[in-house]
Amino acid sequence: MSESYLTTPIYYINAQPHIGHAYTTMLTDAIARSRRLMGDHVFFLTGTDEHGQKVDRAAQKANLPTSVFADQVSAAFRQMCRDLKISNDDFIRTSEPRHYAAAQEIWRRVERAGDIYKGEYEGWYCTVDEIFIPEAQLVDAKCPTCGSKVERLKEESYYFRLSKYEKPLLDFYRNHPDFIQPEFRLNEVRTFVEAGLQDLSISRTSFTWGIPVPDDSRHVMYVWFDALTNYLTALGFGSGEAAADERLARLWPTVTHFIGKEIVRQHALYWPAFLMSAGIPVPHRIVAHGFWLMGGAKMSKSLGNVARYQDYVGVFGLDALRYFVMREMPLGQDASFSDEAILTRFNADLANDLGNLVSRAITMVHRYRGGRVPASPVESRDTLDSDLVAATAASIESVKAGFAAIQISQALQDTWALIRLVNKYIVERAPWVLAKDRANDEKVDRTLYHAADTLRVIAALVDPVMPDAATRIRAMLGIDGAESWTSLQVGTLTAGAQLRPVEALFPRIEKTIEELRGMTTPNEPTPAAPATPATPAQPAAGTPAAATPVAAGPVAAAAPATDSRISIDEFMKVELRVAKVLEAEAVPKSKKLVKLKVDVGTEQRTIVAGIAEAYPPDQLVGRTIVIVANLKPAKLMGIESNGMVLAASPEGGLPNLVSVDPSLPAGSRVR
Ligand code: MSP
Repeated sequence: MSESYLTTPIYYINAQPHIGHAYTTMLTDAIARSRRLMGDHVFFLTGTDEHGQKVDRAAQKANLPTSVFADQVSAAFRQMCRDLKISNDDFIRTSEPRHYAAAQEIWRRVERAGDIYKGEYEGWYCTVDEIFIPEAQLVDAKCPTCGSKVERLKEESYYFRLSKYEKPLLDFYRNHPDFIQPEFRLNEVRTFVEAGLQDLSISRTSFTWGIPVPDDSRHVMYVWFDALTNYLTALGFGSGEAAADERLARLWPTVTHFIGKEIVRQHALYWPAFLMSAGIPVPHRIVAHGFWLMGGAKMSKSLGNVARYQDYVGVFGLDALRYFVMREMPLGQDASFSDEAILTRFNADLANDLGNLVSRAITMVHRYRGGRVPASPVESRDTLDSDLVAATAASIESVKAGFAAIQISQALQDTWALIRLVNKYIVERAPWVLAKDRANDEKVDRTLYHAADTLRVIAALVDPVMPDAATRIRAMLGIDGAESWTSLQVGTLTAGAQLRPVEALFPRIEKTIEELRGMTTPNEPTPAAPATPATPAQPAAGTPAAATPVAAGPVAAAAPATDSRISIDEFMKVELRVAKVLEAEAVPKSKKLVKLKVDVGTEQRTIVAGIAEAYPPDQLVGRTIVIVANLKPAKLMGIESNGMVLAASPEGGLPNLVSVDPSLPAGSRVR
C-alpha cells in the first residue's frame, strides 16, 4: 500500500474562513479521497496558524485575551472542515503543547548545526503577510505582495544563516525539477535564490504571542519558523515517542504541501533550508494553486472582498460548491468567483447534464423493467453499445490520470464528456419508442443496462469531488459503499439488481442572480464569532425532481392596477407537475368524464378529467401528462378529484392532452 501525506496551509486565525481557505481544503480533500480510492494509505493534515503579530492584534481589536480569541476562530476553521465534509485525519493548532515541543526541537537542531546567531533587525515588516521586506523591494512604500502598509522594526533578533543554503537550494532545484507544481513556479523561486539570499530574522522581542526560543524566552519565534514546523509536529516530531520515528520514516518522504501561490517562497525556499539545516529530508512536492478573484482582485480579508462558503453551501448545496471550484480553477491559474458562474454551472452541468442522466437512467429501469437491472450479454451488443463501453473504459483511465496529476478540472471535463455521451446514447436509442414493441425487448434491455452501468462508473468518478452525490446515485442503483478505483471497470453492475426510487440530485435553480444575491453576503466583512452554516437548500432525499425555489427572494414590485399580467411568483404558485397515468375508467353516466389514477412521483392520486370524448380509457394508461398538482379537491359526479389535467381545447373542438417527453420522471415540475 502506498503512503500519502497531504497537507493544507495552516490558516491564520485573525479572521473567519472564506472561500479561499475553503478551496485549498477542498482541493486537498478531493486529492486525499482520490488516493484512498486508489488504495493509498492517506494521512491528511490541516489546521490553524495561531501565533504572530497579526493574530495578536486581531485579538486586541476584538477585546479578547489572545488565547480565547484563538480558541474561537480556530473552532470556526474546524467547523469549516465539518461543513465541507473534509476527510482530514488530524487538525493541528500551533498553540498546542505538541507543537511547542516540535518547533523547539527543530530550533535546537538548526542551532546545533551552527545556523543561528543573534543580531539586530532593522527594517520593514508586513504584518498582513508576516514577512520581512528589504527596502529595495517595497512598492510605493508598501508590501509588494499584498499592498499593505509596512512597519519599521528595530529589535534584537536571532538570525538563520539562509545565505549558506543558496547553493544547496539551487542544487536541489536542479535535481528535482518537479519539486513544485506547476513547474513554472520553480523558476520564480530559483530566480529569487540566484539573486542572492540574505540571512533571515527568525525571532521577535516586541510581543510575546509566540513560541519561546529555547533558552531565551525574551524572544518568540518568527511565526513562519514556528508555522512550517507544524507539518512535522503532526507526525510526532519532537514528541520523543517511539512510534513517532516509524510514522516520520513512513510518511514524511511522501509529503505534498498544497498551498496558494503567495506562500511559495516560504515553502520552497525557507522550509527546505530549515530542513536541510536540521538534517531532515526536503518535502517531496509542493502544489501551488492560483487565487480566487472577486471583482478582479484576490479575495482576501484585508481587501474586504471575501465570499462566505456557508452562503454558497446554503444556496447551492455542498457538492455543487465543491464541483464548481474544482471545475472552474485549472491548477495554477487564477479564477473568478461569481454568483453568475456558479449558477450557470449548477444549472448546465449539474441539473441538466448529470441530473437528467440520473433521472432518465433510473426511471427507465423502473418504468420498463419494474426496477430490475436487465442484462446486456457481450455477444449481443451493437456498435452503439460497444462505443459507449469503450468510451467509459477510456474515461476511467483519463480521470484517474487527471487526479494523479492533480488536474482535477481536466478530470471533471473528461467525466462530463462521458455524461453527455451517455445522454446522447439514450436519446439516440430512444427506449421510450423501442418499448412500444415487444420485439425490441432485448435492445431495450441493453440500453437500460448500459445507461445504468455507465451511471455507476460516473458516480465513482465524481466521488472525490462530490461524495454525497456519489453516495446518493449509488443508493439509487442499490449499491452500498464506495467503489474502489483499483477495480473500477465497465460492466460490473449486476443484472437483476433491484433499483431504489429515483430522487432529484440537483433540482434546477430558477432564481435570478438578483434573487440569489439577496441570499448571499459577498463583500461583507465576516463576524468575529464562528458563523453558523445556512440551511442547505437541497430537498430531502426522495423529493420529486422539482426545481425547489431555494428561498424567498425579494418582494416583486407591485404591478399597476390596469395591468392584468401576473408576476413570476404568482405563476409559481401553480404547481404543474408531470404525472403518469396508471389506470383510467369511464365515469358512469357521464359522456365527458374519465376517472384517472396517476403517479405524481411522491404519491398516487385520483383525478377526474373531462377528456373522455377525446380519449378512450385504454388509450390513456401509460401516458405522461401534465397536471395542476396543488388544486383544492373537488367532487365531480360524486368522485373526489385531486388535481386537474392540462389539455389544449380548440374553440368547439375536442381537448388535446399537453404532452411532455415520456422519459421525464413523474413529479417533475413544469414551468
Ligand atoms: N498561516 C499562513 C500559512 C502557513 S503554512 C505553514 C497563511 N495563512 S492564511 O490564512 O493567509 O491562508 C493562506 C492560504 O489560504 C493560501 O495559501 C491559500 O491556500 C488560501 N487562500 C486564501 N485566500 C485565497 C484566495 N483568494 N484564493 C485561493 N486561495 C486562497 O498564509
